Amino acid sequence: MRFEALRTKEVMWAHLLLSGLILYGVTSEILLAQALNNKGYLVDIKCSKCHTLRRVFIMCKSESEWRVTIEKMMNKNQEWIQPAEAEQILKEILISRAERVHAMCQERKDYEDARFLFVDRCTLCHNINRILYQDKTPEEWKETVERMCTEAMGYITSEDSERIARFLLERAEILREDAGSKLFLDKCMNCHPGEQILLETHNRKEWRKILRNCSEIAAKTFKTSWLHPYEVELIVDILVKTQGFSVQNN
Ligand code: HEC
Ligand code: HEC
Ligand code: HEC
Repeated sequence: MRFEALRTKEVMWAHLLLSGLILYGVTSEILLAQALNNKGYLVDIKCSKCHTLRRVFIMCKSESEWRVTIEKMMNKNQEWIQPAEAEQILKEILISRAERVHAMCQERKDYEDARFLFVDRCTLCHNINRILYQDKTPEEWKETVERMCTEAMGYITSEDSERIARFLLERAEILREDAGSKLFLDKCMNCHPGEQILLETHNRKEWRKILRNCSEIAAKTFKTSWLHPYEVELIVDILVKTQGFSVQNN
């Protein structure tokens, strides 16, 4: 009888152990499957509201570095991400990161127009205004763009990098000579993110019409004549040069 009882106990333990193992295996497989579908994941919900998910997954970090980042994000609003969720999010990032980076690179588009390439590649991690406000020498631009490519972990190819650096140099040259360029930054960026304007292409007549409309909106919003007609003309000039139909940005 004692022998029987012992056996039953052993069998029970073995069962428990086995089912535990199976459960563990199944759970991580489910987690992985979900990760691959990018569905139902906390990281997708909690980490996509203030910036894109690409902003999250492009970063290459160790587990402890991720902990620090997630805690920093949690501290932005403790009610939005709770401690228990932070742990879950960490697991999800570690499990699904490689697959997501792979998907990002697969979906990466090529652009003939260097302006679009610039907007696509350089808005991944920060606002483009940060770049547009900079006045750099050719060497400095080259250095910055190369440093950014290192940050982007292969998402920005070396060909992209060369084309973007060239685009920024040429643009800087045009802007430096042009009276409207400082006005453009001073007068347009407080209502629009730069990328929004940069993605538009128009002829002179169209630019003038848009800017006159903006001028009216600005006058109502700021209760002052924000954009004088002569400023509109100077900014139209620069936009036709950099974002008109005849511009070849390659
Ligand atoms: C309340 C807004 C907000 C939420 C929610 C948020 N972030 Fe952020 N995140 C930011 C801001 C703002 C920055 C840039 C400034 C900074 O670093 O604080 C940033 C920067 C980052 C960066 C780059 C900087 C670094 O430390 O590497 C990563 C990676 C990141 N977030 C990951 C996450 C993850 C993962 C989550 C979800 C757990 C998340 N974020 C949720 C606002 C947020
Ligand atoms: C993977 C994320 C990432 C991408 C993509 C990225 N940046 Fe950055 N960028 C950063 C971080 C992080 C900083 C702040 C730290 C630093 O200055 O190195 C920064 C800072 C900057 C600055 C201010 C600092 C300086 O050196 O003047 C400029 C300008 C800039 N980036 C330009 C660009 C350009 C141009 C591109 C596109 C080629 C780009 N960034 C793409 C992450 C990125
Ligand atoms: C006071 C805020 C404000 C300022 C300053 C401003 N805009 Fe606008 N802009 C707007 C608003 C609002 C719209 C949407 C207009 C609408 O729907 O009628 C707009 C629309 C646009 C559009 C899209 C127009 C279209 O019909 O496709 C462009 C491009 C644009 N603005 C460029 C500029 C430029 C360049 C400047 C600097 C000269 C500028 N804006 C200054 C508020 C502003």
